Amino acid sequence: MKSYAAGGSEFRLTIPRLDIRRGAKLAFVGESGSGKSTLLELLAMLLRPSASSDFYFQPQHDGDALDITAAWHAENPDIMAALRSRHIGYVLQYGGLLPYLTVRENIELSRQLLGMPLGEVAAHWAGKLDITAQLAKRPAELSVGQRQRVAIARALAHDPSVLIADEPTAAVDPPNAERIMNVMVGLVDEMGVTLIVASHAHRLMRDAGIRLIDHQIAAENDNLMHVTVSDATS
Ligand SMILES: Nc1ncnc2c1ncn2[C@@H]1O[C@H](COP(=O)(O)OP(=O)(O)OP(=O)(O)O)[C@@H](O)[C@H]1O
Ligand SMILES: [Mg+2]
Repeated sequence: MKSYAAGGSEFRLTIPRLDIRRGAKLAFVGESGSGKSTLLELLAMLLRPSASSDFYFQPQHDGDALDITAAWHAENPDIMAALRSRHIGYVLQYGGLLPYLTVRENIELSRQLLGMPLGEVAAHWAGKLDITAQLAKRPAELSVGQRQRVAIARALAHDPSVLIADEPTAAVDPPNAERIMNVMVGLVDEMGVTLIVASHAHRLMRDAGIRLIDHQIAAENDNLMHVTVSDATS
């Protein structure tokens, strides 16, 4: 559960139960202000729940389920930061690229921070996302759609287990949004990455083969938060 109290009003997001299987593709849809971004930030371990009972994250197929609630209680932000940087890729509505780095450097950044080899990684991802000609440019020199493609490349370049995208195509025109969604879904399918999106675009999500979850329904009253990324065994 996450609650915000600001300006005299309270916002409360409660997640009774949410199991996300490895390789699942789902989209949270819902009104503006309903808590989609809040939910993604909780799942990305960027935001500390105000209260939580069970929150397990099993990033690796054959690994342990990690107890995220216990990690928050341990008051050790390094644990979250390490899990996040290793296992999660995050795409923001407006890309969130670092303006003073080139496209190549932006794509390489997550691997660099993890000490992973770079090799031809930027060229590889640029090829997949059709931005090879943009590698030497800086974000300000790109179109909005190109920026989103770079943001997706950057979020996937370190082989995360989960890709979280907050309205990744809200800033681009519909034909481009469709192309970008299709590329993104193609890549996560190929890599077996779990995809979690927040979006207003119901049809775009459905057409891309993403399961819609109206999180108003998921957020009914109950003080249990249970988020598990587990194997797709059924
Ligand atoms: N840091 C904060 N402090 C106080 N309240 C906040 C904070 N962040 C968000 N809120 C409130 O929480 C609620 C949910 O916000 P959130 O950004 O999760 O909605 P959203 O569904 O992503 O909306 P949108 O579709 O407009 O992006 C809103 O009422 C917002 O005002
Ligand atoms: Mg939002």
